[in-house]
Amino acid sequence: MPEQPVAAKSGAPAPGSSSAGAPRHVAIIMDGNGRWAQRRGLPRAAGHREGVQALKRTVEAAGNAGVECLTVFGFSTENWSRPADEVSDLMGLVRAYVTSDLARLKKAGVRVKVLGRRTGVPADIVRMIEGAEADTAANNRFLLQVAFNYGGRADILDAAEDHAQRRLAGDAAPLTEAAFSTGLASAGSPELDLIIRTSGERRLSNFLLWEAAYAELVFQDILWPDYGAEPLAQAIGEFQQRQRRYGGRLAEPAMARA
Ligand code: FPP
Repeated sequence: MPEQPVAAKSGAPAPGSSSAGAPRHVAIIMDGNGRWAQRRGLPRAAGHREGVQALKRTVEAAGNAGVECLTVFGFSTENWSRPADEVSDLMGLVRAYVTSDLARLKKAGVRVKVLGRRTGVPADIVRMIEGAEADTAANNRFLLQVAFNYGGRADILDAAEDHAQRRLAGDAAPLTEAAFSTGLASAGSPELDLIIRTSGERRLSNFLLWEAAYAELVFQDILWPDYGAEPLAQAIGEFQQRQRRYGGRLAEPAMARA
């Protein structure tokens, strides 16, 4: 569980600066549950169950590392195409996670937000999600965003639709990146600093497409059920070595400019 309070908000580092501090906002594509189970001769559901344990460890480790916001990819709009029994296992795990962990998260000052469309999600899970969001809305120690029935393109479409509706209602404010971002599911969270994908795959798979614009990407070979504090620290260490330029240039040494 996070032990440190959320730090005061600061702006993005200037172009050319390195990422010396902890990333404020980390997102994780939790990949490899199926392979983890397969290697042990277990059903895929066992991999997903262990994946939930890894998620619990990682939320705690992220808070302890000084991260303010963690966004995880729990279930994509494309995951509905998996066999019905696997979809049903995943739904069951979400129910179990919320039921077993919400009180602990709430007590630890974690605010829970679920990113993604609610249409198509079983009604009892929608009620659970809304309950978890309402129950933790006043918490500000750590923000846990769970992308569930989420797709990055769908989210951008929804933001565009939101903007179009506001225009039709007479809002003539110019469309800026900042204004557009307010229609995204992640509105209000800190700028995304780091995206991690486990299992060795090197794709974004429709995750946080808008938010990824200037995020650093770290791909790790570990399978998600084996994840926790140590691999997260390694990923953060790699992030801290990166030079973030935001499209600018590295600062030239003073001698070179003379
Ligand atoms: C990818 O592994 C993982 C998922 C599709 C779901 C991630 C879900 C969890 C960690 C558990 C439940 C989530 C919540 C939000 C409580 P994969 O099945 O694609 O693995 P593979 O690529 O090895 O087959």
